Amino acid sequence: MITLEVASEDLKSAYPARPFPVRHALSGHPLLTLPALAELARSLPGDRVEFNGGDCRPDQRPEDVRSVDMAPAQIVERIETANAWLVLKRVEMDPRYRALAEAALLDLARQRGFATLAQAGFLDVQAFVFVSSANAVTPFHVDHEENVFVQIHGDKRFHVYDNEDRALVCEEELEISPAKHRNLRYTPDYEVRARTFVMSGGDGCFVPYAWPHWVQTGGAFSISMAITWKSPRVLRLNKLRAANAILRDRGFPQAAPGTRPVADAVKVAAYTAARSLVEPLRRSERLRRALRGAFFGAKANYYYRQGKA
Ligand SMILES: [Fe+2]
Repeated sequence: MITLEVASEDLKSAYPARPFPVRHALSGHPLLTLPALAELARSLPGDRVEFNGGDCRPDQRPEDVRSVDMAPAQIVERIETANAWLVLKRVEMDPRYRALAEAALLDLARQRGFATLAQAGFLDVQAFVFVSSANAVTPFHVDHEENVFVQIHGDKRFHVYDNEDRALVCEEELEISPAKHRNLRYTPDYEVRARTFVMSGGDGCFVPYAWPHWVQTGGAFSISMAITWKSPRVLRLNKLRAANAILRDRGFPQAAPGTRPVADAVKVAAYTAARSLVEPLRRSERLRRALRGAFFGAKANYYYRQGKA
């Protein structure tokens, strides 16, 4: 069975540089219903669920995001009246959701002429499920991965912006730090660079690496899934942007990736070595939280506070 379909001309001319529409067969899948997702929400550690009020604007300031005083599973079960937005993160850690995400990406890999995800350069495959009330808005932000976003239930308008010249989101804002809130500055004049995908169940879109976007749910509750991966190029860029954020935070702003290739190589090697020391500790939620707090400050754990009224 084909899970994901892309027009071959889009794969040839747009992938991976520009967004394009996709079609998929995941709507109605038993793992992507409200009861199944409520069960999944109960099983996830606290830092793998994020939620807040759905009544945001594209330019919502992080400090003005409304919190919701409900347990994640309860939000999912009551999403039709909760006026909330919720994301279940890293759901591919559950083998059943991993199988869904990988089946979709394997179709994309095969359409590109590859037999496996690894051969296609689809590394570090992750999946995120979004459950949102009618009219909820995900404010303007960037993600540091490539993404096939699939609409499962309800309607969404997905607004994605060309930022290749960094006029909308500058290099500093693209740097990666857990201390940064996801929401970015947005003004209505950005709209001249927008491409808007209007999606119902069965629709989806490809979102290129670090292309800014904001998303609005239609008049009914919505279930969507982001299936993400990182190419070798993206993995390297992310290490550089994480290293540059650390150096900038300590008073040493760095040139954009690609400007100084030798310095880039040194930073990537140092970051890789440091990360390999820390990675075994990150298997426990308690240690992940302690590490984020120790290295990036209290702001790095901002999403833990959202459940409080
Ligand atoms: Fe996103």
